[in-house]
Amino acid sequence: MGKKIGILNGGGDCAGINAVIAAAVKAGVRSGYEFVGIVRGFEGLLGDEPQFMPLTLETVEDISSQGGTILKSTNKGKFSAKIGSGDTNQIPAEILQEVKTNMEKFGIDSLIAIGGDGTLSGAVQLQDIGVKLVGVPKTIDNDLLGTDKTFGFSSAVDFVAEALDRIHTTAESHSRVIIVETMGRNTGWIALYGGISGDANIILIPELEFSYQRVLENLRELRSRGNAHSVIVVAEGAKAGGEGQIVQSKGENKEQLLGGIANKLMQELDALAPEEFEMRTLVLGHLQRGGTPNAEDRVLAQRYGAAAMELTIQENFGRMVRLEGNHITSIPLREAVNGLKTVTFDSEILRTARDLGIYFGD
Ligand code: F6P
Repeated sequence: MGKKIGILNGGGDCAGINAVIAAAVKAGVRSGYEFVGIVRGFEGLLGDEPQFMPLTLETVEDISSQGGTILKSTNKGKFSAKIGSGDTNQIPAEILQEVKTNMEKFGIDSLIAIGGDGTLSGAVQLQDIGVKLVGVPKTIDNDLLGTDKTFGFSSAVDFVAEALDRIHTTAESHSRVIIVETMGRNTGWIALYGGISGDANIILIPELEFSYQRVLENLRELRSRGNAHSVIVVAEGAKAGGEGQIVQSKGENKEQLLGGIANKLMQELDALAPEEFEMRTLVLGHLQRGGTPNAEDRVLAQRYGAAAMELTIQENFGRMVRLEGNHITSIPLREAVNGLKTVTFDSEILRTARDLGIYFGD
């Protein structure tokens, strides 16, 4: 019997996780490896009765096109390695040790950890006590430093684009301003790519503080140029100059939850120019994470899964698979979680958006 590999995912789910799992299992079984699924991330490796599920060619058959994760997930608990933007939480030594001990007890040689910066920051801490693992970059936010693209992002952007197409027609019929709030936490990738693909007139992202007055002037300018209706995309982490992000909840052992900026923006615009624009808001929320992966994510996720297994076979641990241009390569996990990949002022996509005449409210 070959070595036993544990596969787990942590943090928010996204489209494509099942495709990573299936690809790793298919690639590994061919090379004589055995697999076990760990339920609800690292938490599933704690306690006297860790939570496992069988992962075989049969159990992963036809799951690549399914949304969510067959392994379940959680973004709270003892393994919350990120609390706020940029904060890394040191997981207690006894918790890390419990994972290592249970791996030894149940004959798990190494792990494939699928996650965003929270889960992978936890993985680095396990690596530091000698756990063998490789990482796979997962998040709709696309904010992981070490890779050009995380899987799940493209499907989320597809959803935003489709939502904006629908919003445009009703906004146009009623000559309204509709403000659409997207996810993305502290980065504006979803808002930017979704907004460009869905023809947004104004896009507000966390990386560029906006001013209510400037947004109002942008709307007036759009109207004077013949736009009777406008669509604003605002990322949940966007904020006006001098204000903080709107935090819905903090909670212990979990990352803070952002949201509410669309309504705040509508109220502030209405206060500045009462009844000048008829406005509505829409929060896209978890619809961006749910549902089936698009073709791009299905392929990317399977490339990642197979590449994670390749690293495992080579015993090249402590690394994260990544997309570099059009190639799958890898990077030390520690480097990949050492900060956020944000939209920078010289990002090409930002230049494109400006060239298209999209406003940023700054
Ligand atoms: O990180 C992915 C993400 O969907 C963020 O865009 C969002 O801020 C957060 O997770 C929501 O998390 P929860 O699952 O706790 O609602």
